[in-house]
Amino acid sequence: MILDGRDPTSVSTAAQALRAGELVGLPTETVYGLGADAGSDAAVAKIFAAKGRPSDHPLIVHVADASGVAHFAREVPAFAHKLMQAFWPGPLTLILPRHPDVGAAAAGGQDSIGLRCPAHPMAQALLLAARTLGVHGVAAPSANQFGRVSPTTAAHVQGEFGDNLLILDGGSCEVGIESTIIDCTRGAPVLLRPGRITREQIEATSGQRLRDKEELAAPAPRASGTLEAHYAPKAKVRLMEGRALQTALDVLGKDFDGATIAVYARSMLRVPSAQALYRRMPDDAAAAAQQLFAVLRDFDAQGVNLIWVETPPETSDWEGVRDRLQRAAAS
Ligand code: TXA
Ligand code: MG
Repeated sequence: MILDGRDPTSVSTAAQALRAGELVGLPTETVYGLGADAGSDAAVAKIFAAKGRPSDHPLIVHVADASGVAHFAREVPAFAHKLMQAFWPGPLTLILPRHPDVGAAAAGGQDSIGLRCPAHPMAQALLLAARTLGVHGVAAPSANQFGRVSPTTAAHVQGEFGDNLLILDGGSCEVGIESTIIDCTRGAPVLLRPGRITREQIEATSGQRLRDKEELAAPAPRASGTLEAHYAPKAKVRLMEGRALQTALDVLGKDFDGATIAVYARSMLRVPSAQALYRRMPDDAAAAAQQLFAVLRDFDAQGVNLIWVETPPETSDWEGVRDRLQRAAAS
C-alpha cells in the first residue's frame, strides 16, 4: 500500500508500523529503503527474509541525527566526527565500532555497524516520529530483491515487494545511487562503496588520505553492495567506449540477429532505429546518477535483451555511476 508521505498521518502510521515490528518502504535521497526497527532482531529478520538476502550481510542503520550515533556506536574517531559534521544529513554511511548490546542482527553479527543520517525530509520525519516511540534507528537496505537494481520511486518498491508492504511515497530520489560508504574502524578512512560524495570531498574534510579496500591487509567486512555482480537488470549490460559502441551499432545495422538492444550514451550515435532504443545519458554525473536505475528498469520493462552503455568518464564525480554500471555488466 502506497501512502502519500506529505500527509503527516502517513508518517505516524509508518512510525507505528516500525514500532510494531513491521517492515516499511521509505524514501531517502539516495534510493528507497526497506526499513525495520534496528533494535528488534525479529523485525530485522523480516528484512532478510523479504529480500532473500543472506543474514550475515550487514544492513545500514538510519538515525535521525548525529545524537543517534551514541546509541549504536561504541566510539567515533575524530575524522568520522568531521565527516558527520560536514555531510550529515546526507548520502554518506559510516562504519563504526558497534555497541555490543545493540543492533547485532542489523549488523549481520559483525562487531561494527553502518550508520547513516538521511536528508530526505520524509525520512527525517519518520525517524523522528519513530524515535518518540522508542525506535532509535531504522535498519534499511535498498528496497529491492537481493542482487537487483535499487528502487528510486515508490512504484519500484511496490513492484519488488507487492501491495502488502506499507510504502511512504516521497517522490523520485534526488541522488539516485546508494550512499558513499566509509569504513571508520581501521584508523584511517577506507572507501567501501563510491557514491555522490567523492574521494576529494572525503579527503578534504577528514584531512586523511582515503584508502581503497584493496589496500587493506585484513579483508574488509562483507558488503553485498560491493559484490562484483550486483545491481543487475534482467537484460545483459555491456560497457563500451563511444567509438567501439558506434562500430558495434554499424555492424548491427547490416547483420541483425533479432535481439532487442537499448543504447544509453552521452555521445551522439547513429543508431539503426528499427533495432535499437536510444537514450541520451546526461553529460552531468549527478544528473546521470539520478536517472540511472530508473533507466535500467525502464529498459527491462520494454523487454530489451541487451543494454549497451557508453563508458562514463574517468573523473571522480562519475565514480559512483561507473561502479554501478561495472557491477551491472559483471552479472
Ligand atoms: O543509500 C543507501 O545506502 C541505501 C539507503 C536505503 O540508505 N541503503 C543501501 O543499503 O544501499 P544496502 O543494504 O543495499 O547496502 C548497504 C551496504 C552493504 O554493502 C553492506 O554490506 C554495507 O552497506 N554495510 C552495512 N553495514 C556494514 C558493516 N558493519 N560493515 C561493512 N559493510 C557494511
Ligand atoms: Mg542494496
